[in-house]
Amino acid sequence: MNHFANRSLLKEIDFTPNELEYLIDFASHLKQLKQQNIPHHYLQGKNIALLFEKSSTRTRSAFTVAATDLGAHPEFLGKNDIQFGKKESTADTAKVLGSMFDGIEYRGFAQETVEQLAQFSGVPVWNGLTDQWHPTQMIADFMTLKEHFGHLKGLTLAYVGDGRNNMGNSLLVTAAMLGVNIQIGAPTALQPSATVIAMAKKAAADSGSQVLVTADPVAAVAGADAVYTDVWISMGEDISAHERIKQLLPYQINAELIAQTGKADTIIMHCLPAYHDQKTEVGQALEAEFGVTALEITDDVFNSPQSVVFQEAENRLHSIKAIMAATLGDLFIPDQWFK
Ligand code: CP
Ligand code: NVA
Repeated sequence: MNHFANRSLLKEIDFTPNELEYLIDFASHLKQLKQQNIPHHYLQGKNIALLFEKSSTRTRSAFTVAATDLGAHPEFLGKNDIQFGKKESTADTAKVLGSMFDGIEYRGFAQETVEQLAQFSGVPVWNGLTDQWHPTQMIADFMTLKEHFGHLKGLTLAYVGDGRNNMGNSLLVTAAMLGVNIQIGAPTALQPSATVIAMAKKAAADSGSQVLVTADPVAAVAGADAVYTDVWISMGEDISAHERIKQLLPYQINAELIAQTGKADTIIMHCLPAYHDQKTEVGQALEAEFGVTALEITDDVFNSPQSVVFQEAENRLHSIKAIMAATLGDLFIPDQWFK
């Protein structure tokens, strides 16, 4: 009996808090197996499609290595390699892939596309990022928090920057579900939608956590155990970079803002990729125009001892492995564990 059998992970709210925490703990277990070189071929003989409409370093690498470690065969299907999005509908693509592959990862634009892949393929589908949600990233991020602090409930997480993108949405809702206080600092125009805030507030009422959405970056980081940021311009956004940078400069994660947490041991998080490096051509242009050499996070904070960004990145492997093994593997995970 496997409670997770054949389920898709399309967005966090499709799972219960207990189920998300099970996946986090399972990921930690798989990390230990990997570190001790203990085989864990839960998906022996399975075939996994990796469908990417947008580019990726971590998600693609994590799915590829995770599938291989689990004994499965991963097949990368980039947007220029297949008919999808040009000559063939999502439904038809889903039916074909589902008849050959045992599971499908999708990264792309519309949440509707990943929902349709799940509806028409008949196999588990895992959302590797859409414009709305980034659920596999959440298992890695909350796993990282749990590794660092030993628990989740009662922690305070601040997310500062673009509060309306996939990361803002996912962190807001997942933290609220898992009993982590969540404080979003973003200009009014880039705050999460009323629908996502309402979803988070409902989850927070159940878990006992607090939700704060504010335009004041200092109020957002006050008392934070972890401060998180993301790129200011997400993949596929067609906006003026100049306007967005002007809008978000007061929300840059730098030493001055981190000092406002009032805590000495606040950790720094970022899903990556990050713009923190001043040694590039773009960095020089930024310095000339805005007087800054980094965007969402300064290099000193990014590389500080409190930064766990590369631990988070590694945890993408273990968490994605847990998600695939739980939903596709022949595991004993009884329903009564989740009542
Ligand atoms: N964090 C993350 O999803 O990274 P990639 O875009 O490199 O996959
Ligand atoms: N918000 C970013 C996340 C990248 C992992 C983007 O969508 O580009």
